[in-house]
Amino acid sequence: MLKVAIIGTGAICPSHVKSYLQFPSQCKIVALCDIYPEKAEKIKQDFNLDAHVFDNYQDLIDKEEVDLISICTPPYTHADIAINSLDAGKHVLVEKPMASSLEECDAMVEAGKRNNKILSVVAQNRFTTPMMKLKHVLETELMGPILHTQVDSYWWRGHSYYDLWWRGTWEKEGGGCTLNHAVHHIDIFQWMRGMPSEITAVTSNTAHDNAEVEDISIAIGRYQNGSLAQITSSVVHHGEEQQLIFQGKKARVSVPWKVKASTSKENGFPNDDPELEQLLTEAFNSQPDLEYEGHPGQIENVLDAIIENKPVLVDGIQGRQTLELITAIYESANYQRTVTLPLTKESPFYTREGILQNAKHFYEKGASVENFSDTEITTGGKYE
Ligand SMILES: NC(=O)c1ccc[n+]([C@@H]2O[C@H](COP(=O)([O-])OP(=O)(O)OC[C@H]3O[C@@H](n4cnc5c(N)ncnc54)[C@H](O)[C@@H]3O)[C@@H](O)[C@H]2O)c1
Repeated sequence: MLKVAIIGTGAICPSHVKSYLQFPSQCKIVALCDIYPEKAEKIKQDFNLDAHVFDNYQDLIDKEEVDLISICTPPYTHADIAINSLDAGKHVLVEKPMASSLEECDAMVEAGKRNNKILSVVAQNRFTTPMMKLKHVLETELMGPILHTQVDSYWWRGHSYYDLWWRGTWEKEGGGCTLNHAVHHIDIFQWMRGMPSEITAVTSNTAHDNAEVEDISIAIGRYQNGSLAQITSSVVHHGEEQQLIFQGKKARVSVPWKVKASTSKENGFPNDDPELEQLLTEAFNSQPDLEYEGHPGQIENVLDAIIENKPVLVDGIQGRQTLELITAIYESANYQRTVTLPLTKESPFYTREGILQNAKHFYEKGASVENFSDTEITTGGKYE
């Protein structure tokens, strides 16, 4: 029976609690920690947990016998908590975004290796039936080489969203919607399509004058072979329609699932290709529906990896690649230049200090709310 602790008992914590509770024969939540311990007490009561409450994560690590720690604190704390947990011999599941800088990601990956412990980064949208099926379709390569990818990571958050004390700042949130919202789709994009060789991006803040960071960004990725990708990250899109579209030489496929295939007429105009559409649809349908989707799906993956001593789907390297793309978007937009990947340690945005020194502020943060009374949140990921 794996003993689990959760550090940070705010908005996302219940998703972790509910997920662990779905696997009662594999794990038990034994400890909760928050700098506001009354929030941890409330979670303990709400879910009727037999868990110790701590107000300091180092005390939890030192005093409680645990195998796996979920880190659900703000991004600027992820690296320290993860590294200290790994060095104390615990496995770690850290919420997205992995950390505030590539330097921190590298130190986290190193700590995982050094201690031979699992470091997994939350990317729960991979663990959805449509995404897993689309991944399989792409692996068949039936649609030919991919020429263009469109990532629409559209979210909507009101002005007050950035009033929470740690949000909207380079120091504590680490970035805006590109980092904290589009991270889900950028993760899936790099998992399905691989890393481009260069990024050119523009960021802006159109409706949140209480945030230093962007509320929209548009990035273009270019691959060695000339194929392009466009990634839009936004918290100003009503309806939060989210999609990934892959245009292959012979067909397009996407999540939400849609397929269209064409061949060329003698004059170059398109002819429908229903046979290929049928093959692609069969490939999509050949994959089973997931039993557990979202956080429960990823937590099942982490528990299985620990128990069966096998790799996790989303490890530290994967988390780092996603942050590398996001960092490249920020660097490109900040300096209004195309950035070549992979980013090196010489990148002005490789370290947290570099980002804090160099990142332009759209606005300065005014109001700062300690905690919202309405604690319910949504996490997107409806791809049917
Ligand atoms: N996967 C998803 O879909 C998803 C959705 C929302 C948030 N998140 C991520 O989860 C993390 C937390 O976000 P949230 O919305 O729950 O924020 P939140 O502010 O509601 O909760 C964070 C909690 O951590 C506590 N905390 C801060 N510093 C701490 C420390 N040093 N030690 C112990 N506790 C500490 C805070 O008091 C707070 O209760 C962020 O990284 C965020 O990006 C992920």
